[in-house]
Amino acid sequence: MALTGLFLCTFLLVHLIGNLQLFKADGGMAFNVYAVFMTTNPLIKFTSYGLYAIIIFHAFWGLYLVSENKKARPVAYAMVDGKANSQWTSRWMGVLGTIILAFIVMHMAGFWAKYKFGEVPYVQYERNIVDGSMTYGPSAPIESKKEQFVSAETGMEYTIVKDLYTEVAVAFKEWWIVLLYVLAMAAVSFHLVHGFSSAFQTLGVHHSKYNGLIKFVGIWVFGIIVPILFAAMPVYFFIQ
Ligand code: HEM
Repeated sequence: MALTGLFLCTFLLVHLIGNLQLFKADGGMAFNVYAVFMTTNPLIKFTSYGLYAIIIFHAFWGLYLVSENKKARPVAYAMVDGKANSQWTSRWMGVLGTIILAFIVMHMAGFWAKYKFGEVPYVQYERNIVDGSMTYGPSAPIESKKEQFVSAETGMEYTIVKDLYTEVAVAFKEWWIVLLYVLAMAAVSFHLVHGFSSAFQTLGVHHSKYNGLIKFVGIWVFGIIVPILFAAMPVYFFIQ
């Protein structure tokens, strides 16, 4: 659980940094080109299959451990005061993880599956090589996921890609999708505040020299900054 959890934390950081391109004021070009790279680069494609397996393993092994823990005490305590020796986040890891799993299924059905198997229209960007000015608009479908070429005649660079950016922008105009995303990011935050430092404890990294840093990264990076930046994406498109 610890190793797969830390791998998923690394994925979240990479996914966040890539998705930050949604905030670029370029009509989605950087984000759309990035999406092509992420879905065609052979090394990343291979890693993605590992990622799906790890998500499934981490979620279902976690739920199995929660049920084993329950079975270990078939007769419940007459009085439970969880607060006495544990944080609520540690006692709710199974519930928080289940919420995140449901989010990932919904999220992948919405964007990933549509991009891979659905009908995503193409967009063409025309960038003036001399002054950098850019225009863009719908394009007829092409055979591949991306075509990029420079025309000496017009002095323009043409980029044609699937317009995943508009799919994201349109989805985040729905208030209930924005709300679900924001609530799911709260679950990610609470899950990781406990999960990140707990993973190091499981791996035996428990030393006064490192404990402060691990706690700091767990709380500030994975508990606050990462979920807030992810949640800012749906909110940004909604209020635009
Ligand atoms: C809230 C902001 C987010 C946005 C705008 C976003 C956007 C996207 C998009 C457009 C894709 C499909 C294209 C691609 O594969 O690169 C994708 C894939 C994915 N997202 Fe997100 N995402 C967000 C947050 C998250 C979070 C918080 C998680 C995990 C808890 C997550 C997990 C995934 C996974 C597992 C995939 C499939 C990756 C792969 O095929 O390699 N996403 N996301």
